[in-house]
Amino acid sequence: MNTQSQPDRIIIFDTTLRDGEQSPGATLNVEEKLAIARQLARLGVDVIEAGFPFASPGDFEAVQKIAQQVGTEDGPTICGLARATRQDIQAAADAVSPAAKPRIHTFIATSDIHLEYKLRKTRAEVLAIAEEMVGFAKSFVDDVEFSPEDAGRSDPEFLYQVLERAIAAGATTINIPDTVGYTTPSEFGAIIRGITEHVPNIDQAIISVHGHNDLGLAVANFLEAVKNGARQLECTINGIGERAGNAALEELVMALHVRRQYFNPFLGRPAESEAPLTNIDTRQIYKTSRMVSNLTGMFVQPNKAIVGANAFAHESGIHQDGVLKHKLTYEIMDAQSIGLTDNQIVLGKHSGRNAFRTRLKELGFELGDQELNRAFLRFKELADKKKEITDWDLEAIVNDEIQHTPARYQLEHLQVSCGDHSKPTATVTLLTPDGQELTDAAIGTGPVDAVYRAINRVIDLPNELIEFSVQSVTAGIDAIGEVTVRVRHEDRIFSGHSANTDIVVASAHAYVNALNRLSFVLEQGRSLHPQHPVTAAVAQA
Ligand code: KIV
Ligand code: ZN
Repeated sequence: MNTQSQPDRIIIFDTTLRDGEQSPGATLNVEEKLAIARQLARLGVDVIEAGFPFASPGDFEAVQKIAQQVGTEDGPTICGLARATRQDIQAAADAVSPAAKPRIHTFIATSDIHLEYKLRKTRAEVLAIAEEMVGFAKSFVDDVEFSPEDAGRSDPEFLYQVLERAIAAGATTINIPDTVGYTTPSEFGAIIRGITEHVPNIDQAIISVHGHNDLGLAVANFLEAVKNGARQLECTINGIGERAGNAALEELVMALHVRRQYFNPFLGRPAESEAPLTNIDTRQIYKTSRMVSNLTGMFVQPNKAIVGANAFAHESGIHQDGVLKHKLTYEIMDAQSIGLTDNQIVLGKHSGRNAFRTRLKELGFELGDQELNRAFLRFKELADKKKEITDWDLEAIVNDEIQHTPARYQLEHLQVSCGDHSKPTATVTLLTPDGQELTDAAIGTGPVDAVYRAINRVIDLPNELIEFSVQSVTAGIDAIGEVTVRVRHEDRIFSGHSANTDIVVASAHAYVNALNRLSFVLEQGRSLHPQHPVTAAVAQA
């Protein structure tokens, strides 16, 4: 095996902004994608798959801006996804071209079931397309990744042939997707081993893996793949993604970190080596998880490994006693290692604009003047209500501000009356996209219901509220409450999020935010989905 193509560390390829954004309701705007991309760079991912540029002008713009602003010389590789067609590859090439390290990722399905029903192509045709389109991608960039979609259910002999041809045409990474999350760890490991043994030119490419969590096995499958030669892992923050999601970055990275003595020998290192197996700054994990959860509206379950609210909480008396006597009795990793305890009390009522700006910079937020002004006003309002402002409060404010751009409808005024023996009533004033101020009122079963009914009287976008959740950012009665809502319009889901010490106000903003996304998408038209059958486009390859 060639050591250059099989490095002795694991490459982390983050696809939160592409596969993660394919989660129902996780649609992000350009500003939000940029904010996440910057945070992924701080986290230390090697490759950011920034989107599917051919999908829509908005997707193209987001990938291009990420390539310009985050894909710097010492930043991550910026990758764009493309089906194996000329238009897709051309769009991906144009979008990633401003990056110092651009990559095109092109794919075509190889399982018989996809060939017969989705592509309606023979194996010979798919072989020829893969070779030709990798060659076409190579005419734009040196760094080309090729994926045989649904590799997990493909005939291994055909898979070996396709991979050999793709590598010969210039693919430098070959990615093996378990597209439908069907394989078990030993099967997936065997697929990777088979590739190392049967693809003659495999030493010229890095083996990558991509997998979905339909059976909850994605992370386990990847770890088995690492033992068998995979050196790039495609994953998402909080494991978000199509259907049950992708392999979770934080779980993979922490498994490789906590159990490095177990994994070291598989990467040709002495078992006792302390050198990290990935480039990830693990102390950025918690912050990244919260940002992705806030901006996508994808709630993290409390018992989620690594980043769930209970992941480091010991409830049982026996466990608490053990941890007090010696941490290692019940803790295999330290909460500090994922940045969970970095929540310092930093600012207060008397802190000025400079201190505010400086702390935001230290936290990695670079806001434009307007955003900074709005965030500072929010901070001052909060400081009047809450004595001590922590880093997490600041993050909640800033995530909220990022979300509000570009706002279409704006909540100008909200008044609610409720209580025992009274009918909850809300009056709202909204600023419409054409600058009109509209006011309306409604009665509801509770204050939030009344607010939502009043908003619906102003914004006429039929929808069904399918999720409403409130979480507090920090402990204490004066804590900021974060509200996440998800609404369904026809067959699409849109989420909205907001944070405020008043949860009724946060609820109103979160709902307006979800409706803004809905109205934006209705105006822009639909984005193409990279994996849905669009045979006309594929036929042009
Ligand atoms: O799941 C999958 O197969 C994919 C490919 C586009 C890599 O997301
Ligand atoms: Zn996928």
